[in-house]
Amino acid sequence: MGYTMKKIAVINNKGGVGKSTVSVQIAHGLALKGFKILLIDLDGQNDSSMFLGFTQDDYKNTFFDLINNRNCCTIEECIISARENLDLLPSMHIEQINSQFHRISRIDLVLNELLAGLESLRYDYVIIDCGPQRTKINDAVLCYVDNIVLPVQVEAASVRAIGNIYEYLADLRLDPDMISLVIPNMFDQRTNDSKENLEFLKEFFSNSNILSEPIHRRIKLTEAGKLGKTVFEFDNVAANQFSLVVERLIG
Ligand SMILES: Nc1ncnc2c1ncn2[C@@H]1O[C@H](COP(=O)(O)OP(=O)(O)OP(=O)(O)O)[C@@H](O)[C@H]1O
Ligand SMILES: [Mg+2]
Repeated sequence: MGYTMKKIAVINNKGGVGKSTVSVQIAHGLALKGFKILLIDLDGQNDSSMFLGFTQDDYKNTFFDLINNRNCCTIEECIISARENLDLLPSMHIEQINSQFHRISRIDLVLNELLAGLESLRYDYVIIDCGPQRTKINDAVLCYVDNIVLPVQVEAASVRAIGNIYEYLADLRLDPDMISLVIPNMFDQRTNDSKENLEFLKEFFSNSNILSEPIHRRIKLTEAGKLGKTVFEFDNVAANQFSLVVERLIG
Protein backbone atom coordinates (compact mmCIF):
# COMPACT_ATOMS: atom_id res chain seq x y z
CA MET A 1 0.00 0.00 0.00
CA GLY A 2 1.29 3.47 -0.87
CA TYR A 3 1.83 6.08 1.79
CA THR A 4 -0.67 8.90 2.05
CA MET A 5 -0.74 11.71 4.54
CA LYS A 6 -4.34 12.56 5.37
CA LYS A 7 -4.94 16.25 5.87
CA ILE A 8 -7.83 17.31 8.08
CA ALA A 9 -9.07 20.78 9.06
CA VAL A 10 -11.07 21.18 12.25
CA ILE A 11 -13.13 24.20 11.43
CA ASN A 12 -16.38 26.03 12.07
CA ASN A 13 -17.02 29.72 11.52
CA LYS A 14 -18.64 29.89 14.90
CA GLY A 15 -16.41 30.61 17.88
CA GLY A 16 -16.19 28.54 21.02
CA VAL A 17 -17.81 25.38 19.67
CA GLY A 18 -14.89 23.10 20.52
CA LYS A 19 -12.56 23.24 17.51
CA SER A 20 -9.38 23.35 19.58
CA THR A 21 -10.68 20.75 22.02
CA VAL A 22 -11.64 18.38 19.23
CA SER A 23 -8.35 18.97 17.40
CA VAL A 24 -6.29 18.04 20.43
CA GLN A 25 -8.37 15.06 21.49
CA ILE A 26 -8.59 13.44 18.06
CA ALA A 27 -4.90 14.11 17.51
CA HIS A 28 -3.95 12.34 20.73
CA GLY A 29 -6.57 9.63 20.22
CA LEU A 30 -5.11 8.79 16.81
CA ALA A 31 -1.56 8.96 18.20
CA LEU A 32 -2.48 6.46 20.91
CA LYS A 33 -3.69 4.13 18.15
CA GLY A 34 -0.17 4.22 16.73
CA PHE A 35 -0.67 6.73 13.93
CA LYS A 36 1.97 9.39 13.47
CA ILE A 37 0.26 12.76 13.89
CA LEU A 38 1.10 16.40 13.36
CA LEU A 39 -1.21 18.98 14.90
CA ILE A 40 -0.87 22.42 13.34
CA ASP A 41 -2.17 25.25 15.49
CA LEU A 42 -3.36 27.95 13.11
CA ASP A 43 -5.60 29.80 15.53
CA GLY A 44 -4.23 33.05 16.94
CA GLN A 45 -5.16 32.17 20.51
CA ASN A 46 -2.84 29.14 20.61
CA ASP A 47 -5.49 27.15 22.48
CA SER A 48 -4.63 23.76 21.07
CA SER A 49 -0.96 24.26 21.94
CA MET A 50 -2.04 25.27 25.43
CA PHE A 51 -4.39 22.29 25.77
CA LEU A 52 -1.34 20.11 25.08
CA GLY A 53 0.57 21.91 27.81
CA PHE A 54 2.72 24.29 25.78
CA THR A 55 3.13 28.04 26.10
CA GLN A 56 4.96 30.45 23.84
CA ASP A 57 8.08 30.01 25.98
CA ASP A 58 8.27 26.45 24.70
CA TYR A 59 8.29 27.39 21.02
CA LYS A 60 11.63 27.73 19.32
CA ASN A 61 10.38 28.43 15.81
CA THR A 62 6.80 28.51 14.59
CA PHE A 63 4.74 28.39 11.41
CA PHE A 64 5.50 32.11 11.04
CA ASP A 65 9.20 31.35 10.56
CA LEU A 66 8.41 29.05 7.64
CA ILE A 67 7.25 32.12 5.77
CA ASN A 68 9.58 34.76 7.08
CA ASN A 69 12.86 33.06 7.82
CA ARG A 70 13.08 30.62 4.99
CA ASN A 71 16.83 30.50 5.22
CA CYS A 72 17.01 29.98 8.93
CA CYS A 73 14.79 27.02 9.55
CA THR A 74 13.34 23.90 8.05
CA ILE A 75 9.90 22.66 8.96
CA GLU A 76 11.46 20.10 11.29
CA GLU A 77 13.00 22.91 13.30
CA CYS A 78 9.53 24.37 13.87
CA ILE A 79 7.99 21.16 15.18
CA ILE A 80 7.78 20.23 18.88
CA SER A 81 7.31 16.68 20.11
CA ALA A 82 4.13 16.83 22.23
CA ARG A 83 3.45 13.19 23.05
CA GLU A 84 4.49 9.81 21.68
CA ASN A 85 3.49 9.85 17.98
CA LEU A 86 2.11 13.38 18.33
CA ASP A 87 3.98 16.45 17.15
CA LEU A 88 2.91 20.08 17.27
CA LEU A 89 3.56 22.90 14.85
CA PRO A 90 2.70 26.06 16.81
CA SER A 91 2.05 29.50 15.40
CA MET A 92 2.62 33.11 16.36
CA HIS A 93 1.83 36.47 14.74
CA ILE A 94 -1.27 35.04 13.08
CA GLU A 95 -2.47 38.48 11.91
CA GLN A 96 0.79 39.07 10.12
CA ILE A 97 0.57 35.70 8.44
CA ASN A 98 -2.94 36.56 7.35
CA SER A 99 -1.83 39.88 5.84
CA GLN A 100 0.93 38.13 3.97
CA PHE A 101 -1.52 35.58 2.61
CA HIS A 102 -3.63 38.49 1.30
CA ARG A 103 -0.78 39.37 -1.02
CA ILE A 104 -0.38 35.85 -2.39
CA SER A 105 -2.08 35.22 -5.72
CA ARG A 106 -2.44 31.42 -5.46
CA ILE A 107 -3.89 31.00 -1.98
CA ASP A 108 -4.94 27.50 -3.04
CA LEU A 109 -1.29 26.44 -3.34
CA VAL A 110 0.41 28.32 -0.53
CA LEU A 111 0.23 25.59 2.11
CA ASN A 112 1.33 22.91 -0.34
CA GLU A 113 4.46 24.96 -0.79
CA LEU A 114 5.05 25.98 2.82
CA LEU A 115 4.39 22.49 4.14
CA ALA A 116 6.06 20.55 1.33
CA GLY A 117 8.69 19.36 3.81
CA LEU A 118 6.07 17.28 5.63
CA GLU A 119 5.89 14.62 2.93
CA SER A 120 9.24 13.17 3.95
CA LEU A 121 8.34 13.16 7.66
CA ARG A 122 5.80 10.37 7.15
CA TYR A 123 2.86 11.62 9.14
CA ASP A 124 -0.30 9.58 8.82
CA TYR A 125 -2.49 12.55 9.68
CA VAL A 126 -2.00 16.28 9.70
CA ILE A 127 -4.72 17.95 11.76
CA ILE A 128 -5.16 21.71 11.56
CA ASP A 129 -6.91 23.65 14.30
CA CYS A 130 -8.46 26.72 12.68
CA GLY A 131 -9.66 30.07 13.99
CA PRO A 132 -13.35 30.88 13.75
CA GLN A 133 -13.43 33.70 11.22
CA ARG A 134 -13.32 33.58 7.47
CA THR A 135 -9.70 34.54 6.89
CA LYS A 136 -7.10 34.11 4.19
CA ILE A 137 -5.43 31.56 6.44
CA ASN A 138 -8.63 29.53 6.60
CA ASP A 139 -9.06 29.87 2.81
CA ALA A 140 -5.58 28.42 2.44
CA VAL A 141 -6.29 25.63 4.92
CA LEU A 142 -9.52 24.61 3.20
CA CYS A 143 -7.75 24.47 -0.16
CA TYR A 144 -4.95 22.36 1.36
CA VAL A 145 -6.86 19.69 3.28
CA ASP A 146 -8.66 16.58 2.05
CA ASN A 147 -11.28 16.55 4.76
CA ILE A 148 -13.08 18.69 7.28
CA VAL A 149 -14.11 17.79 10.79
CA LEU A 150 -16.89 20.10 11.93
CA PRO A 151 -17.58 20.42 15.65
CA VAL A 152 -21.06 21.80 16.28
CA GLN A 153 -22.18 22.94 19.67
CA VAL A 154 -25.52 21.35 20.49
CA GLU A 155 -27.47 24.56 20.97
CA ALA A 156 -29.85 26.43 18.70
CA ALA A 157 -27.58 29.23 17.44
CA SER A 158 -24.78 26.84 16.47
CA VAL A 159 -27.07 24.34 14.87
CA ARG A 160 -28.67 27.12 12.81
CA ALA A 161 -25.24 28.29 11.68
CA ILE A 162 -24.28 25.00 10.03
CA GLY A 163 -25.08 26.45 6.62
CA ASN A 164 -22.16 28.89 6.96
CA ILE A 165 -19.50 26.30 6.32
CA TYR A 166 -21.34 25.11 3.19
CA GLU A 167 -21.47 28.71 1.92
CA TYR A 168 -17.80 29.13 2.69
CA LEU A 169 -16.91 25.99 0.73
CA ALA A 170 -19.12 27.08 -2.17
CA ASP A 171 -17.40 30.48 -2.28
CA LEU A 172 -14.05 28.72 -2.53
CA ARG A 173 -15.49 26.33 -5.15
CA LEU A 174 -14.72 23.38 -2.89
CA ASP A 175 -16.69 20.17 -2.58
CA PRO A 176 -19.12 20.06 0.38
CA ASP A 177 -18.41 16.33 0.64
CA MET A 178 -15.05 17.33 2.12
CA ILE A 179 -16.94 17.46 5.40
CA SER A 180 -16.32 13.92 6.55
CA LEU A 181 -17.35 14.15 10.17
CA VAL A 182 -19.71 16.37 12.15
CA ILE A 183 -19.23 16.18 15.91
CA PRO A 184 -22.07 17.33 18.17
CA ASN A 185 -20.26 18.88 21.12
CA MET A 186 -21.28 19.98 24.63
CA PHE A 187 -24.35 17.78 24.53
CA ASP A 188 -26.27 17.99 27.80
CA GLN A 189 -28.53 15.02 28.43
CA ARG A 190 -30.44 16.87 31.11
CA THR A 191 -31.92 19.59 28.94
CA ASN A 192 -34.69 19.27 26.38
CA ASP A 193 -33.06 22.00 24.35
CA SER A 194 -29.94 19.91 23.94
CA LYS A 195 -31.96 16.81 23.02
CA GLU A 196 -34.03 18.73 20.46
CA ASN A 197 -30.95 20.19 18.82
CA LEU A 198 -29.28 16.79 18.65
CA GLU A 199 -32.42 15.42 17.00
CA PHE A 200 -32.29 18.26 14.51
CA LEU A 201 -28.69 17.38 13.67
CA LYS A 202 -29.60 13.71 13.21
CA GLU A 203 -32.38 14.69 10.87
CA PHE A 204 -30.24 17.17 8.96
CA PHE A 205 -27.48 14.63 8.36
CA SER A 206 -29.73 11.56 8.06
CA ASN A 207 -28.76 10.91 4.43
CA SER A 208 -25.04 11.41 4.72
CA ASN A 209 -23.77 9.27 7.61
CA ILE A 210 -21.25 11.89 8.72
CA LEU A 211 -22.66 12.62 12.19
CA SER A 212 -20.67 11.11 15.06
CA GLU A 213 -21.86 10.22 18.53
CA PRO A 214 -22.04 13.36 20.70
CA ILE A 215 -19.36 14.60 23.06
CA HIS A 216 -21.09 15.48 26.30
CA ARG A 217 -20.62 18.71 28.21
CA ARG A 218 -18.20 17.91 31.03
CA ILE A 219 -16.36 20.20 33.40
CA LYS A 220 -13.48 17.76 33.33
CA LEU A 221 -12.87 18.54 29.67
CA THR A 222 -12.29 22.20 30.46
CA GLU A 223 -10.14 21.27 33.45
CA ALA A 224 -8.03 18.95 31.32
CA GLY A 225 -7.35 21.78 28.87
CA LYS A 226 -6.32 24.14 31.65
CA LEU A 227 -3.90 21.56 32.99
CA GLY A 228 -2.43 20.89 29.57
CA LYS A 229 -3.65 17.30 29.59
CA THR A 230 -5.73 15.44 27.04
CA VAL A 231 -8.84 13.52 28.08
CA PHE A 232 -6.88 10.31 27.54
CA GLU A 233 -4.67 11.41 30.43
CA PHE A 234 -7.38 12.85 32.62
CA ASP A 235 -10.97 11.65 32.17
CA ASN A 236 -12.09 8.17 31.14
CA VAL A 237 -15.66 9.19 30.37
CA ALA A 238 -14.73 11.87 27.84
CA ALA A 239 -11.90 9.67 26.58
CA ASN A 240 -14.40 6.95 25.72
CA GLN A 241 -16.57 9.46 23.87
CA PHE A 242 -13.62 10.72 21.87
CA SER A 243 -12.50 7.14 21.16
CA LEU A 244 -15.75 6.62 19.26
CA VAL A 245 -15.01 9.74 17.22
CA VAL A 246 -11.49 8.51 16.51
CA GLU A 247 -12.88 5.16 15.31
CA ARG A 248 -15.10 7.06 12.88
CA LEU A 249 -12.10 8.94 11.54
CA ILE A 250 -10.10 5.78 10.98
CA GLY A 251 -13.17 4.47 9.17
N1 LIG B 1 -17.66 18.96 25.68
C1 LIG B 1 -17.25 19.99 26.43
N2 LIG B 1 -17.61 20.08 27.73
C2 LIG B 1 -17.21 21.11 28.49
N3 LIG B 1 -16.43 22.10 28.07
C3 LIG B 1 -16.04 22.08 26.77
C4 LIG B 1 -16.41 21.02 25.89
N4 LIG B 1 -15.87 21.28 24.66
C5 LIG B 1 -15.19 22.42 24.79
N5 LIG B 1 -15.28 22.92 26.05
C6 LIG B 1 -14.70 24.17 26.57
O1 LIG B 1 -15.29 25.25 25.87
C7 LIG B 1 -14.34 26.26 25.62
C8 LIG B 1 -14.25 26.49 24.10
O2 LIG B 1 -13.72 25.31 23.51
P1 LIG B 1 -12.62 25.42 22.38
O3 LIG B 1 -11.54 26.36 22.78
O4 LIG B 1 -12.21 24.04 22.03
O5 LIG B 1 -13.53 26.04 21.22
P2 LIG B 1 -13.07 26.69 19.84
O6 LIG B 1 -14.15 26.41 18.85
O7 LIG B 1 -11.70 26.23 19.50
O8 LIG B 1 -13.03 28.23 20.21
P3 LIG B 1 -12.43 29.43 19.31
O9 LIG B 1 -13.47 29.71 18.28
O10 LIG B 1 -12.24 30.53 20.31
O11 LIG B 1 -11.15 28.93 18.70
C9 LIG B 1 -13.04 25.79 26.23
O12 LIG B 1 -12.93 26.34 27.50
C10 LIG B 1 -13.22 24.28 26.34
O13 LIG B 1 -12.49 23.74 27.40
MG1 LIG C 1 -9.97 27.34 19.08
